[in-house]
Amino acid sequence: MYQLPVSLLLLILSFSFRVSCLQLSNCNKTEVTLIRDTELLTSLTLSNCTLPHLENAFFVRFDHLLQLELQHSGLSDLDDFSLNGLIRLQSLSLGHNNLSALRSWSSEPLGALSILDLSHNRLSKLRAKSFELYPQLQQLDLQNNQINQIEENSFYGLPHLKHLHLNGNQLQKLDSSFFRGLHRLSSLSLQHNQIDSIEMESFEGNTHLRSLRLDQNLLSSLTFISQRGLARLVHLNLSNNLVQKLEPLGFSKNFELQNLDLSFNNLTKLSKDALSGLDSLEQTYDDSNPSPPPLTWPKIPTDRFDSRSVIIWMLVAIAIAFAGLRWLRRFVDRNEKRKLGTKELNNMYVSKVQWQPVRNELERS
Ligand SMILES: *[C@@H]1O[C@H](CO)[C@@H](O)[C@H](O)[C@H]1NC(C)=O
Ligand SMILES: *[C@@H]1O[C@H](CO)[C@@H](O)[C@H](O)[C@H]1NC(C)=O
Ligand SMILES: *[C@@H]1O[C@H](CO)[C@@H](O)[C@H](O)[C@H]1NC(C)=O
Ligand SMILES: *[C@@H]1O[C@H](CO)[C@@H](O)[C@H](O)[C@H]1NC(C)=O
Ligand SMILES: *[C@@H]1O[C@H](CO)[C@@H](O)[C@H](O)[C@H]1NC(C)=O
Repeated sequence: MYQLPVSLLLLILSFSFRVSCLQLSNCNKTEVTLIRDTELLTSLTLSNCTLPHLENAFFVRFDHLLQLELQHSGLSDLDDFSLNGLIRLQSLSLGHNNLSALRSWSSEPLGALSILDLSHNRLSKLRAKSFELYPQLQQLDLQNNQINQIEENSFYGLPHLKHLHLNGNQLQKLDSSFFRGLHRLSSLSLQHNQIDSIEMESFEGNTHLRSLRLDQNLLSSLTFISQRGLARLVHLNLSNNLVQKLEPLGFSKNFELQNLDLSFNNLTKLSKDALSGLDSLEQTYDDSNPSPPPLTWPKIPTDRFDSRSVIIWMLVAIAIAFAGLRWLRRFVDRNEKRKLGTKELNNMYVSKVQWQPVRNELERS
């Protein structure tokens, strides 16, 4: 009886699955312009195609797309408004192409875009407000380009950005203006650059930063570590740099640090309080200096509470107090009953039969 609706449903499902995602490889522009029923497409993947140039409004027929990938296709030139019309787009990847200039490629905001991948291109410079028309961006991948210049306000207007990949570029210096305004930034990848200096206020506003990768750079000084923005770091990788010494109390503000990698540096001596403050630390390596005596982590006074742990401890204390009170009452009750019981018992003749109910009552209480 219900066979017909079920098969109909299956048909509809398979139909919608078939047309909603489309993958093309080794295609050319003519073939893309011949795609039909584009209003049903939510995902389009073009790989290994020949698409060096996209003209304005190239995707305007694809306004239902949530996801667009255009990779390994030699893309080197997009006209200024070639992404116009992709109003629902959530994820865009133009990785593994030949892009050397970055623009918004749209005349109006792509208000739904949360993931943008521009990795493995030839970008060398980020201009001010490059991403202004992508206000909902949460993840931005710029790894493996040739970026050596980041203008002030390059990441302007990205209050929701959580993950930023800038590894594998040619950055030499981090200015205090680079990451300004990225208040929600939680992970930042800067490994594999040529960074030799970091301005003192570079991470000033990035107070949500949990993971920072700076390995494979040319850092010799770590004075930047003590700035306010890095106070909540959990993972910090400084491996493969040129660090020669650690400042006394250099990590004393990084209370939450759990992973610190200082391997493959040029550390020769370690002052006594160089690592104090690291009470959350789980592991550390120093492969480049196997000979110095094993590091002993200083004992940290545990009288430092943040508000969260204060509340948790208060709840625990209240629970314990209540449990204690209950136990005390039961204890008192039981004692009283027992006294009552023994009084009664003293006054009566105890036989086996009479004893039984009394004991049961005691057990039940
Ligand atoms: C695109 O590919 C199709 C089929 O592979 C081919 O017939 C056509 O000539 C190509 N067009 C261009 C402009 O290369
Ligand atoms: C695209 O080309 C790369 C190498 O150029 C190859 O590794 C990859 O498998 C190809 N992908 C497709 C979908 O053809
Ligand atoms: C990349 O673009 C440049 C021009 O910007 C061009 O000379 C070069 O041939 C392109 N490379 C590839 C692999 O398309
Ligand atoms: C730090 O980075 C290096 C590569 O530079 C990697 O081998 C190592 O595993 C990383 N350390 C941690 C703790 O992830
Ligand atoms: C490590 O530091 C010493 C001086 O402390 C210096 O002579 C040596 O060149 C440094 N090595 C590297 C690889 O920078």
